[in-house]
Amino acid sequence: MRVLTGIQPSGDLHIGNYFGSILPMIESQNDHEVFAFIANYHAMTSLGEGERLRHLTLQAATDFLALGMDPTKSTFWVQSDVKEVLELYWILSGFTPMGLLERAHSYKDKTARGIASNHSLFSYPVLMAADILLFGSQVVPVGKDQIQHVEIARDIALKFNNQYGEIFTMPEFRVDENVATVPGIDGQKMSKSYGNTITIFGEEKSQLKTIKKIVTEVVGMEEPKEFENCNVYNIVKLFLNENERIALQERYLSGGEGHGHFKLYLADVLWEYFRPYRERRAYYEAHQEDVREVLKAGAAKATAVAMPIIEKIRSVTGIQY
Ligand code: ADP
Ligand code: TRP
Repeated sequence: MRVLTGIQPSGDLHIGNYFGSILPMIESQNDHEVFAFIANYHAMTSLGEGERLRHLTLQAATDFLALGMDPTKSTFWVQSDVKEVLELYWILSGFTPMGLLERAHSYKDKTARGIASNHSLFSYPVLMAADILLFGSQVVPVGKDQIQHVEIARDIALKFNNQYGEIFTMPEFRVDENVATVPGIDGQKMSKSYGNTITIFGEEKSQLKTIKKIVTEVVGMEEPKEFENCNVYNIVKLFLNENERIALQERYLSGGEGHGHFKLYLADVLWEYFRPYRERRAYYEAHQEDVREVLKAGAAKATAVAMPIIEKIRSVTGIQY
């Protein structure tokens, strides 16, 4: 099965991204054909600084490789290295009714939050449809907020196929119900856009500083504490096995420790969990030329898959004259 996913390099990757998207993708490399790319064209809708986009793109690639993205098993590239996606984006625009985009929640949410409305923000789902359809993706794992975008890709594919024949594979979205939404330090969904993240590869001191800011209820040190709704518990549990969870629950229930202690525990657990990845990351950080090589080879692999599809499209649409 061909599984495709894209991640925007719009900020440092955080543990919500890790549990919600990166880890499932890395685990599925053993039994699926994984296509994963850094969506840098999409990130242009929120970043307006060239140097920063370049930096974040390479950082995201470095993070992915450190975390176990295996370019020998999977196809891993940067979106802008396969330009055919922009060609397809234009072609698909002709199969995208305005109403379909006007109904997109993500666009409505972003403009409601004050982000200036412009054409790329509006047509974002068409580029995403091109990402999905250019590589014959069968499954697209997404968070709930992205379901509608995959549905839009299906609608567009259907319209195109109705006109030109069975060119596109119909993609399906997959939402992993087991992957809970990781809360941020303020208890809302952890998100780059809310400034409430714990990053994967931050410095030890700044990680601790962030963790100390996690919002918790105010209860005396000696009192028993509830763990179910505790933001610290709900983050740290993601890293723990069943026995460790039970042991921590007992610490909450027996009193005698404050939330500060649980925060220190979270900081330790987080630091230890990512230790091996951090070491691998340090290697890639010091060898950015290796990262660029991997991306270049990944783009070649992705292009090889895209070419027969785009050539067929050029042919049936008459663009190839
Ligand atoms: P952000 O909200 O930080 O901008 P993105 O929208 O770029 O994150 O999401 C990238 C991937 O990470 C998506 O697959 C998304 O579902 C997942 N993800 C982001 N935040 C969380 C979270 N708090 N919990 C679980 N998964 C998340
Ligand atoms: N829009 C996705 C997000 O913000 C990123 C993305 C771009 C994507 N193209 C994609 C995800 C194609 C899946 C498939 O998370």
